Amino acid sequence: MTATTANCSTRSATKKVTVNTLAALKARDEKAVFVTAYDYPTATFADRAGVDLLLVGDSAAMTVLGHANTLSITMTEMLVFARAVARGAQRAFVVGDLPFLSYQVNNDDAVRNAGAFIAAGCDAVKLEGGVRVADRVRAITDAGIAVMGHLGLTPQSIGQQGGYRVQGKTLAATQRVLDDALALQDAGAFAILFEALPPESAAYIRERLDIICYGIGAGPHLDGQLVISHDILGNFVGDIAPKFVSRYANLDQVVEDAFRRYATDVRAQRFPAPNHWYSIDASEAAALTQLSREPFARKTA
Ligand code: KIV
Repeated sequence: MTATTANCSTRSATKKVTVNTLAALKARDEKAVFVTAYDYPTATFADRAGVDLLLVGDSAAMTVLGHANTLSITMTEMLVFARAVARGAQRAFVVGDLPFLSYQVNNDDAVRNAGAFIAAGCDAVKLEGGVRVADRVRAITDAGIAVMGHLGLTPQSIGQQGGYRVQGKTLAATQRVLDDALALQDAGAFAILFEALPPESAAYIRERLDIICYGIGAGPHLDGQLVISHDILGNFVGDIAPKFVSRYANLDQVVEDAFRRYATDVRAQRFPAPNHWYSIDASEAAALTQLSREPFARKTA
C-alpha cells in the first residue's frame, strides 16, 4: 500500500469522483467530504487526503483576496483559481462557484460563464438561489453541465438577508427553503448545498428531496459536509469565526512563526549557510577570490 492509498482511508485513491460516485455515496448513506480550495497546493493536499469534493468558492474574495464580502470577485479572478484547483484534483470532484452577476442577468450569461468553469477543468458549477434562478439552472443543465444549487444563507444576497444570518428558523421559513429546493430539483440540479440552517429544518428538507443534499453549518443530517478550508486550517485573516467549524490546524501561527525565524536568520547572517550555496571548482573559486582582493576600476562608457 502506498502512502497515498493509506491516506485515502476506504475511498479509492485514483478513480475520479463523478456525479455517479456522489449519488452512490448518498445511496449507501456515506458522508461526502467537501472543502473549499482556491490554489494548486491546497487542492493537491486535500485530494491526497481523500477529500471527495472541492469547491472553488467565491469565498476566495474574502479568504484569499482580502475583500469584506464575496460580491466583488470577478469571473476572470475565479477562473484563475478554478484552473489551479482543477490541476491539483486528481480524484476529487471540482465545483466552480458562479460569482455575483455572472448568472443573475440572463440565461446566455449563465450558460457561457458556467461553460467557462467547465473549460477551466471543473466538473460542475454552483449558484445561489431557488425559484428565481430555476430558469438559469434549466438552461445550464440543458447545456450538459452539472449544477449544484445553494440555499439557506446565500452570501450573494446579504443585502436582502440582512447579513450572515441563520435561515429556516420557523416551519414557514423552512417550507420556503423547501419550495426553492424543489424548484432546483425540477430544473435538473444534481445536488443542493444548504448553508446555516437548524438541523431540524435541514432534515425536514432532505427527507423531501431525491437529489444529494450537502450542508455547511446545517447540522449532521445531510449527505456531506462542506467547510471553508481556511476555517479548519486556521489561516483566515479576519474576525469571522463560524461556530459550526472545528480548527484542525493553526496555520496562521505556523506561517507567521516561519517568517519570523527566517527574518531572524537573515538579519543574523545565519542564512544563507554553506549548505545553501552553489559550489564551483576550487581553482575557479581561488581565482575569483584572488581577483576580488585586487583593486577594481569600473569601466566608464
Ligand atoms: O464560496 C463559498 O465558499 C461558498 C460557501 C460559503 C458555501 O459558497
